Amino acid sequence: MPAANKDGDGGWNKFLWNSEKKELLGRTGGSWLKILLFYVIFYGCLAGIFIGTIQAMLLTLSNYKPTYQDRVAPPGLSHTPRSEKAEMAFNKNDETSFSKYTNAMKAFLEMYNDSKQEDPTKYEDCGDVPGDYLDRGSLESGEVGVRRACRFKRSWLEACSGLDDPFFGFKEGKPCLIVKLNRIVNFRPRPPASNASLPEEARSKDITNVLPIYCTNKREEDAGKVREVKYFGIGQGFPLQYYPYYGKLLQPQYLQPLVAVQFTNLTANTELRIECKVFGQNIDYSEKDRYQGRFDIKITVKDS
Ligand SMILES: *[C@@H]1O[C@H](CO)[C@@H](O)[C@H](O)[C@H]1NC(C)=O
Ligand SMILES: *[C@@H]1O[C@H](CO)[C@@H](O)[C@H](O)[C@H]1NC(C)=O
Ligand SMILES: *[C@@H]1O[C@H](CO)[C@@H](O)[C@H](O)[C@H]1NC(C)=O
Repeated sequence: MPAANKDGDGGWNKFLWNSEKKELLGRTGGSWLKILLFYVIFYGCLAGIFIGTIQAMLLTLSNYKPTYQDRVAPPGLSHTPRSEKAEMAFNKNDETSFSKYTNAMKAFLEMYNDSKQEDPTKYEDCGDVPGDYLDRGSLESGEVGVRRACRFKRSWLEACSGLDDPFFGFKEGKPCLIVKLNRIVNFRPRPPASNASLPEEARSKDITNVLPIYCTNKREEDAGKVREVKYFGIGQGFPLQYYPYYGKLLQPQYLQPLVAVQFTNLTANTELRIECKVFGQNIDYSEKDRYQGRFDIKITVKDS
């Protein structure tokens, strides 16, 4: 037994280092070198292919423009205040019942204060009537530097600007909503081709260089109860000179044009379901997305 043990030890030692054949772990130095060389080249090639592929991918992407933009859904229409369950109920005689709405509007509109839009390197005046798209150079051309954006004055929202009436009409039972079209890089909203594509009651609206918005009762049984709706903003809609938007990198200070909607004669003490819709050739509505191109909200104004 001791002999066998010795023999085994000798075999193992011989395998580790065979001094007769000059073999390490059963291979000669030259053989080991070849193996090493093979793996260096093999993994080198793998790494090369990997890096090359990533580089090629990155070259096709632009910093400024989303690559697969054709997949983006048409813009959503959102509103402030945006309440839970799309319901807004308040008593016009009880300030605490609507302060959460007016506070949200105040907070939202602060970024539209004139004092925030003074810097002439970042903002310019684009007029207070609807105008054509404002091209600020190509997104691709590698031209660096921030593009200017159009100013948007709170005062254009008139009774809903919060400047004269800090209660945005709620105290008189004439609530305002601030509406905006969600931003999409490089999107040019197109106005309706003719007023024939608008609902009959909205056909008198301006559609030259502006996308009109129209709010009315959603349910048949509310017909005639929403009554007068006023619209404030440039051309009472979304004017084209604010488009296209150049994205977060090139236009970090961009402000969307706003439309304020004021319901000045709502039937009191009744829940009214109101739908607002924006109209344009490349505006779509979706069954699945409640905010795509439209929204609806339930409003109840109590007066006692
Ligand atoms: C924005 O303007 C409103 C109304 O003039 C004012 O009350 C508010 O303090 C201003 N906010 C900022 C941050 O300048
Ligand atoms: C619709 O547009 C036509 C042509 O621009 C105009 O003559 C007509 O008065 C408009 N309809 C309404 C209801 O305003
Ligand atoms: C509000 O609507 C009612 C019912 O249609 C109407 O009689 C009243 O004159 C309207 N009020 C205003 C201020 O337009």
